[in-house]
Amino acid sequence: MALAPPPSGFDLDAWVARSGALDVRGIDWNQVPRHPLPPAAVRTLRYMQDIESHTIVYLRALLATRAIDDPEVSTFLACWLYEETFHGIALARFLDAAGHPVARRERPRGTESPAQWLEARATALLSRAWPDFCAVHMTWGAINELTTLTGYLRLRSVAGHPVLAELLERIMRDESRHFFFYYRQAETRLVRPGAARVARLLVDRFWAPVGSGVGRPGELELMAGYLFAGDEGRAAARKVDDTIRRLPGFATVRLLEAWMDRHVAGGLHGDRQP
Ligand SMILES: [Fe+2]
Ligand SMILES: [Fe+2]
Repeated sequence: MALAPPPSGFDLDAWVARSGALDVRGIDWNQVPRHPLPPAAVRTLRYMQDIESHTIVYLRALLATRAIDDPEVSTFLACWLYEETFHGIALARFLDAAGHPVARRERPRGTESPAQWLEARATALLSRAWPDFCAVHMTWGAINELTTLTGYLRLRSVAGHPVLAELLERIMRDESRHFFFYYRQAETRLVRPGAARVARLLVDRFWAPVGSGVGRPGELELMAGYLFAGDEGRAAARKVDDTIRRLPGFATVRLLEAWMDRHVAGGLHGDRQP
């Protein structure tokens, strides 16, 4: 028998009332090419645009899980996809205005790689076998939304482009709401020690920054180096990890900072700014 999820105390109606397409009114697209945009910022924006547009693919795997049986989670996912899609559209418009139009994807999204197929099947099986599946889904989402939000925050600061700063400000408002939903849900669901133990095990074993395996090899590492190198970058990555460590069962988890140390030349201890 499936266990009913614990009451989250979450006000879904209030959350949904604030959901909507990204408002880009007043963004002066004509001003975009009048300000310099560093090449590393262009690469980072291309990566982020691709990931935002990839949300529908993440949803493909989730639709085969018990996530859609939970009224709060399924309603959230519908709003989430809608909002992320508009982030992708807005970033594509910015890149276009900057003279770097988004090229057609080398691999169409409708075609799953064998690894993606396997991952989706494993996710569906895990969901069927484990009533607390949503605990790991929500934890995963909280980590990824917070990483994305922090990535945008860093990009706004290192790119130094005023129109981009305005656009990212608006996108970050949505990312904060996404993070809030996932984190609040994770907090509630991880109270069960069994759920926390399995979620922690899966995060320890399989977590990698959002977009791993989606973009071109090496792009994620380059972007991570651009955004998180130096003292301020290191502090931002540490803040992500510290926030997730406040979740039940995650006090000692090693995430973004450890990943940077493993995958980016010089880790967080170098001052590389490509
Ligand atoms: Fe987004
Ligand atoms: Fe998001």
